[in-house]
Amino acid sequence: MRILVTGGAGYVGSHVVKILGEKGYEVLTYDNLSTGNRWAVLYGSLVVADLSDRGTLRGVFKDFRPDVVMHFAASIVASESVREPLKYYRNNTVNSINLLEVVQESNVDKFIFSSTAAVYGIPEKIPITEEESIKPINPYGRSKAFVERILEDISKAGHFRYVSLRYFNAAGAEPEGRIGEMHDPETHLIALILKTAKGGREGIKIFGTDYPTPDGTCIRDYIHVDDLAEAHLLALQYLLDAGESDIFNCGYGHGYSVREVVSMAWKVTGIDFVSEETGGRQGDPPALVADSSKIRQRLYWNPRYDNLEYIIRTAWEWEKRL
Ligand code: UFG
Repeated sequence: MRILVTGGAGYVGSHVVKILGEKGYEVLTYDNLSTGNRWAVLYGSLVVADLSDRGTLRGVFKDFRPDVVMHFAASIVASESVREPLKYYRNNTVNSINLLEVVQESNVDKFIFSSTAAVYGIPEKIPITEEESIKPINPYGRSKAFVERILEDISKAGHFRYVSLRYFNAAGAEPEGRIGEMHDPETHLIALILKTAKGGREGIKIFGTDYPTPDGTCIRDYIHVDDLAEAHLLALQYLLDAGESDIFNCGYGHGYSVREVVSMAWKVTGIDFVSEETGGRQGDPPALVADSSKIRQRLYWNPRYDNLEYIIRTAWEWEKRL
């Protein structure tokens, strides 16, 4: 069974490549290394190319003949997308169309898409079910929501089937410490906190303290990257078992505020790093917490690391190695 993974050198992609490799799947990573890293690809081969390069993409499909495509490659910083919307529509929407055209030309009919909780914008209800309306509040969320619509249309038009996984906040690292989160620039809360604890930064800024949440800071559903990777394996099995196209939230179903994350990081690291309260960040919804009953019931997802302390501990072990 051959799986083509775009963005397999990135944070979530590399953890998925690892478990695919461990399970004996043949994997090819297609990544332009703009934000990913060669060393993060622990299994299979790596083609360094851009999704806009259809010639290379076609060649790879012809030679590798994938049975399934998993599409991670994307720009992911919501705040950047507000300043540079076209980058997001090109990298996330246009490049997904390029990929899907080659997928169709090659008669590949199974596809797994990395979507995001950002498609919900500011949800009406917390926890968020997949039935919640799609109202993204930044170009990042819109760039992904467009792809979800396109996937729906393609699947209605033929025998193509897909699973779209809406990630909440991926965090942590594999316990073996070979791969973990490394973005440049880093924008994600837990990674930034740990860089601060390590001494690489002056202090962590708490973005916004007057949100309508119990302690005034934003709430997120942090999910360990290995549990998220497992969700992809289950989605793959579901498509191989002839499952119909569907969309699933990937989160644990409860959230932590920025202040709670900072406190847990003080405990895990034992380092009394500085935190500073500042104004809110553009494009940040107050709370994003998944209702994950659907993926638990339909894909039998049974997460193993639903524990903020463990998430931060694995991320800390990784950070100390960097
Ligand atoms: N935050 C701070 N200080 C920082 C960085 C972040 O207070 O220095 C806050 C943010 O305001 C937010 C929370 O920490 O409230 C989490 O921020 P992240 O940047 O870690 O993550 P986001 O929630 O903004 O976005 C992430 C992914 C998106 C995905 C989203 C879904 O980057 O791709 O989770 O929940 F859509």
